[in-house]
Amino acid sequence: MTFSLNDPDLFRQTAFLGGDWKTSTSGKSLTVDNPSTGEVIGTIPACTAEETGAAIESAQVAQAKWRRSSSAERAALLMAWYQLMLDHTEDLAQIMTMEQGKPLVEAKGEVTYAASFLKWFAAEAEHVQGEALVPTPDRRVIILKEPVGVTAAITPWNFPLAMITRKCAPALAAGCSMVLKPSELTPYSALALAVLAERAGLPKGLLSVVTGYAQDIGPTLTASPIIRKLSFTGSTKVGSLLMRQSADTVKKLSLELGGNAPLIVFDDADLSVAVSGTMMSKFRNAGQTCVCANRVYVQSGIHDAFLDRLAAKVARLNIGDGFDPQVQIGPLINDAAVAKVKEHVEDALAKGGRVIGKPLEIRGRFVSPVLLADVTAEMKIAQEETFGPILPVFRFEYENDAVEQANATPFGLASYFFTNDISRAWRVGEALDFGMVGLNTGSVSMVSAPFGGVKQSGLGREGGSLGLEEFLEVKSFHIGLPAA
Ligand code: SIN
Repeated sequence: MTFSLNDPDLFRQTAFLGGDWKTSTSGKSLTVDNPSTGEVIGTIPACTAEETGAAIESAQVAQAKWRRSSSAERAALLMAWYQLMLDHTEDLAQIMTMEQGKPLVEAKGEVTYAASFLKWFAAEAEHVQGEALVPTPDRRVIILKEPVGVTAAITPWNFPLAMITRKCAPALAAGCSMVLKPSELTPYSALALAVLAERAGLPKGLLSVVTGYAQDIGPTLTASPIIRKLSFTGSTKVGSLLMRQSADTVKKLSLELGGNAPLIVFDDADLSVAVSGTMMSKFRNAGQTCVCANRVYVQSGIHDAFLDRLAAKVARLNIGDGFDPQVQIGPLINDAAVAKVKEHVEDALAKGGRVIGKPLEIRGRFVSPVLLADVTAEMKIAQEETFGPILPVFRFEYENDAVEQANATPFGLASYFFTNDISRAWRVGEALDFGMVGLNTGSVSMVSAPFGGVKQSGLGREGGSLGLEEFLEVKSFHIGLPAA
């Protein structure tokens, strides 16, 4: 499969540094491959620490001006960018499927989802509000909300557009600038987004896309005193490293880290709602999402019926190249991801797990979906995020046991449960120790709702009104009124 973009100019193999499209002075580059075929799509510059530093300085100059722009001006830029994204949905989706592998229909869905953050924060830009206090007759205090300043973002490969706009849109809306380091596995989506930002009228230097290896770029971002905030989506291991690296400059941080989402199905659930919610949560992006159901707990009264219905649906999933319209499960991102899935399945089978339906089949980076029953807490699959299309099912008897097992993890991003009992709905919803809880739904991702986790799943919230607050500082402006 080769590109057939309507607008070939969207496919850039240069970095976007301080408003200019450049190769690296290092002369070094990285290759990017298509996970379906293993074929090389192209190269990107391996930017250096010096180039990252220069992008930060450009962002500082641009931000000094941007912070004085009107909210209407910021909103207009975001809306123009939004419209351009929608106008180029087909091309953006093709680039994404080519470098990330997800089915084209899912990639188009992600373009819409990613664009929704631009529209949402365009509106939010015009709703930043402070407060005025009258604490004593001779004092007034105005509470101002001001942009944090120059910010940085490090984004993952699993959502190559949405994780960028979810950070960049609130940053620009708040009056901040941003230096972005996209995943080296999916840089072309980020660069296409920058082309559209430029066409939308992005001021020079306000957004840079620094391509290359994390070890060359990350430490410069975290060490820089100019960068006042870092927003990261990725693993807990890397998130805590970035936190340590950011300590010396006491940066604000937003960290959207790993999950190990439980999904609980109670006897009183609507079976078909629970089955389709589980399918939606588990198999989106071939199970490569931080919020996908990683542990499915099913009460014994509904257990067998649930497994039968689920097995029938899993058997109908087609695996293959994301450009094939019949495919629902694309490839995993790389060989390490395939190896982890294999290890989890083999470990579960060795410890007494049972495959329902077809066994695991691996062809290159294509991994067949597997339904596992009789899963227990001792298995690796119960303890770590699998990040693949494996659905492990645990059987339980009592509500409190299921909630206790669901909470028995250092992670706390998303959780789901299915019940038609109103009292149980409240009880379990409040008892689940997660930043996001889905009741009778397998989806918790939408622009208007805060997205983020507790415990080792991270800090801060993205999306919703809180997403903008993350890029604002509070200033208390005290005004003395001497007696007349
Ligand atoms: C993820 O971070 O993996 C999920 C992103 C989303 O659903 O918005």
